[in-house]
Amino acid sequence: MISHHKELNSVIKISNLSKHYKLVDLSISALENVSFTVELGEIVFIMGPSGSGKTTLINLIGGIDNPTGGSIEILGEDIAQYSDKELTLYRKKRLAFVFQFYSLIPTLTARENVELVLELTLRKRKDISKLAEEQLTLVGLENRMDNFPFQLSGGERQRVAIARALAKSPDILLIDEPTGQLDQKTGDNIVSLIQKIAKEKKKTVLLVTHDQELECYADRVITLRSGKIISDESKSLLTQNDDGRISNAANI
Ligand SMILES: Nc1ncnc2c1ncn2[C@@H]1O[C@H](COP(=O)(O)OP(=O)(O)OP(=O)(O)O)[C@@H](O)[C@H]1O
Ligand SMILES: [Mg+2]
Repeated sequence: MISHHKELNSVIKISNLSKHYKLVDLSISALENVSFTVELGEIVFIMGPSGSGKTTLINLIGGIDNPTGGSIEILGEDIAQYSDKELTLYRKKRLAFVFQFYSLIPTLTARENVELVLELTLRKRKDISKLAEEQLTLVGLENRMDNFPFQLSGGERQRVAIARALAKSPDILLIDEPTGQLDQKTGDNIVSLIQKIAKEKKKTVLLVTHDQELECYADRVITLRSGKIISDESKSLLTQNDDGRISNAANI
């Protein structure tokens, strides 16, 4: 039976969010009164020109930067009210980042990079290595687990970063320009993989990209310009998957 969860709280509720950076005698407005909500399992792309505030928005939601005004509610809680300890817990447990430049540790293998984040939350060696292997298999790297980043292509490294992000089983994935360093086809593969896994595992995703050709993988596209939302478009509720199956993005 199809269930409707529209009555549930939004996973992310952004209200009048502003961020001004102060530089000596001038103030740069990176975000200006931005408001939107994101529902469970939604894949939202954040688009817009360079300097429009995309990374700022992701960093604020990720709790690694503080807003000048407005609020960010995650699962009904305002993260601005969090103590440092609660904020750390939020970053550790609820969300995962994938950065543009992979940010893998070069002296650790793919497997060890994934295990490292699992060590933050799990104790048993056996559980850690099993879960790391599962995640790397999910992104198709079962044969490359013991390779170092320098032995992997850009796309493979990005897949390790995705495996690492998913390993924590976050509610929310924040992904900043995952394809910036990749060619079109590899970038397309990466975003299609993110979309597939996010749908299977009902993850809520905010993904920053410049690439309009990737829009087909979004449920919704929010476009920023000069720190303001200039459009917020939901894709058709009925979307056809690559394999021809019809899925309903609204039923989650
Ligand atoms: N720490 C900072 N101090 C001062 N200004 C900043 C800081 N971080 C960002 N800005 C400014 O805020 C604005 C928005 O920056 P942001 O990094 O969010 O843009 P973006 O949309 O991610 O751009 P890009 O596509 O180039 O990554 C820019 O004008 C930028 O110069
Ligand atoms: Mg950016």
